[in-house]
Amino acid sequence: MNKKLPPISSKAPVMLHGADYNPEQWLRYPEVLQEDIRLMKLSGSNVMSVGIFSWVSLEPEEGVFQFGWLDNLLDSFEANGIYAFLATPSGSRPAWMSAKYPEVLRVERNRVRNLHGVRHNHCYTSPVYREKTALINSKLAERYAHHPAVIGWHISNEFGGECHCELCQTAFRDWLKVKYDHNLDELNHAWWATFWSHTYTSWEQIESPAPHGETQVHGLNLDWRRFVSERTIDFCQHEIDSVRSYNPELPITTNMHNIDGVDYRELAKILDVISWDAYPDWHYTEDDDDARLAAWTAFHHDMYRTFKHKPYLLMESTPSLTNWQSVSKLKRPGMHKLSSLQAIAHGSDSVQYFQWRKSRGSSEKFHGAVLDHSGHGETRVFRDVAEVGRTLAGLTDVVGTTTPVETAIIFDWDNRWAIKDAQGIRNSGLRYEETVVEHYRGLWELGIPVDVIGSGDELSAYKLVIAPMQYLITEENGKRIEKYVEQGGTFLATYWSGVVGETDLCHLGGFPGPLRRTLGIWAEETEGLHSRDLNGVVMQDGNFLKLTGEYDAHEIAELIHLEGAEALGHYRSDFYAGRPALTLHRLGEGKAYHLATRVKDQGFYVDLYAAIADKAGIRRTLDCELPTGVTAQLRTDGEQEYIFVQNFSGREQTVVLDNQEYTDLETGTAAPEVLNLEVNGLVMLKRKV
Ligand code: GAL
Ligand code: ZN
Repeated sequence: MNKKLPPISSKAPVMLHGADYNPEQWLRYPEVLQEDIRLMKLSGSNVMSVGIFSWVSLEPEEGVFQFGWLDNLLDSFEANGIYAFLATPSGSRPAWMSAKYPEVLRVERNRVRNLHGVRHNHCYTSPVYREKTALINSKLAERYAHHPAVIGWHISNEFGGECHCELCQTAFRDWLKVKYDHNLDELNHAWWATFWSHTYTSWEQIESPAPHGETQVHGLNLDWRRFVSERTIDFCQHEIDSVRSYNPELPITTNMHNIDGVDYRELAKILDVISWDAYPDWHYTEDDDDARLAAWTAFHHDMYRTFKHKPYLLMESTPSLTNWQSVSKLKRPGMHKLSSLQAIAHGSDSVQYFQWRKSRGSSEKFHGAVLDHSGHGETRVFRDVAEVGRTLAGLTDVVGTTTPVETAIIFDWDNRWAIKDAQGIRNSGLRYEETVVEHYRGLWELGIPVDVIGSGDELSAYKLVIAPMQYLITEENGKRIEKYVEQGGTFLATYWSGVVGETDLCHLGGFPGPLRRTLGIWAEETEGLHSRDLNGVVMQDGNFLKLTGEYDAHEIAELIHLEGAEALGHYRSDFYAGRPALTLHRLGEGKAYHLATRVKDQGFYVDLYAAIADKAGIRRTLDCELPTGVTAQLRTDGEQEYIFVQNFSGREQTVVLDNQEYTDLETGTAAPEVLNLEVNGLVMLKRKV
């Protein structure tokens, strides 16, 4: 049964609310610092992330440390009931270090070493960088690990990127030697290196991918990405090791953001608590329909929660606009509260911003912040932030509650890397992530909670597991899925699945390789379609899911043969009209569905998952109809359930509740039977389990 877990910090058993804060930029403006504390309290803020890029303010010269400003800050936080996530400063480094030790500077793919500049650009292998980082971290830990205001470590900032220096090349070769058991023949086979005579005859010949060198050996590209990810995680572990022992009670996180680099599911394993930075560009589409983006964001929230199956932190978000998206649009009324509470709905125990006060100069001076250059709280943004502060203060009971989930979507880093690198079947737009979110959105529209898992994760807890475009799958994980279905699970796969194994070699003997027996089909051919091409899925009379009519399909179509599965729908047109497009295979106690083409209508995914969820006995958050663009998400302590009904549809909506008894969380009174949701509106409900 789901239950309540302890708060992230026992010092602060409340919903956390706050921002990144860089007072070291304002040391020449002492009045600003005083005012900040007053306004933090006024905005209902109770936590700040400090020290994130502060290295030069802590160590202005090599070996010369100054902590006065940070001492004063943390003491004044303590006196005012404000907590701090204390950052290690390795996200950017002082100029003196780059000048004296050029090896800390990153080398790009073109093998040119960077000059000193920007941030997030150091070599993760450099012994000097590791030594300097460990030193400053241990100084911070020694001084502050037991400071009453400090509630956790914020390690570095948004780890990512890669370095191609000689130190990293050597480390890569060593990593490959271990992986391939010091056997170059094994590596050559795994990378299919005889192709174009790329066979290596010595380990020294191996180089990381380079624009003027090797780019086409997919196995090399994939192993390089794995190596970079592991190296980065190893660097993070090195940072953790430098602070942990000073106070083992202090929880450790690092803020995640860009899924392109590090395998976050692996990084998560070395952290105590997950945190991420969410910057959706609301109101971007012409029709102002934010539902697609809301589902996209919800998917990420669910993924970060699933990493540890417990509450996480929304470490950064913008209180108003960003300054790096193509167009910096303000959040429309309601959106700040709605998008902040969306995080809470999916399992966050915080709402935090980048940043507290807008910098006066440099590259982020126009990025939204709680305090504008006007310097006071009489602004729309400040009022929106303070409203979220008040709302969070009323949600203390929700802290530590968990999400009951019966459905999982598989989203693997190596599958994503491999599928995007593959060359074919639709180089003009394979749209992997969009496809995952298309499936996810079907469930989101129905108010069905979802976990986002890896193909190596335990499946038995779920009634339904969905694997969109599982192009890379190992024999072993294929077997585990087969067993899961045999033992009663429901599984759904799509086109372009079961194509390659761990090193990007194609599965021989027919696709979908290790999923072929589970799905009871053979995919003989798969084609990409031009944007102008339209096909369709025509549902068969009396099909098991009772779906009717037809749905447009486009972009990718697979020609499959039934090998034990039954057709639920078939292609509408082209030379393969009438051939199966949606199938069901009954295997053991379970069921495996296969969708052979990309359906264009979003409504299809809602209809499909409504039918599959009913058959699999999956519970929805609310037992009632939800209008398109409205979702309901759930958290529970095992006795009470907290329900967040969110309207991202861009218009007013009503929801007629099922006939259980609900309390409105904000008013504390009985909720009406019909909920009226404003544009960007949200209603929070409570009911007994
Ligand atoms: C984040 C980063 C912050 C700030 C923010 C602006 O990715 O961690 O330091 O740059 O973006 O949106
Ligand atoms: Zn390097």
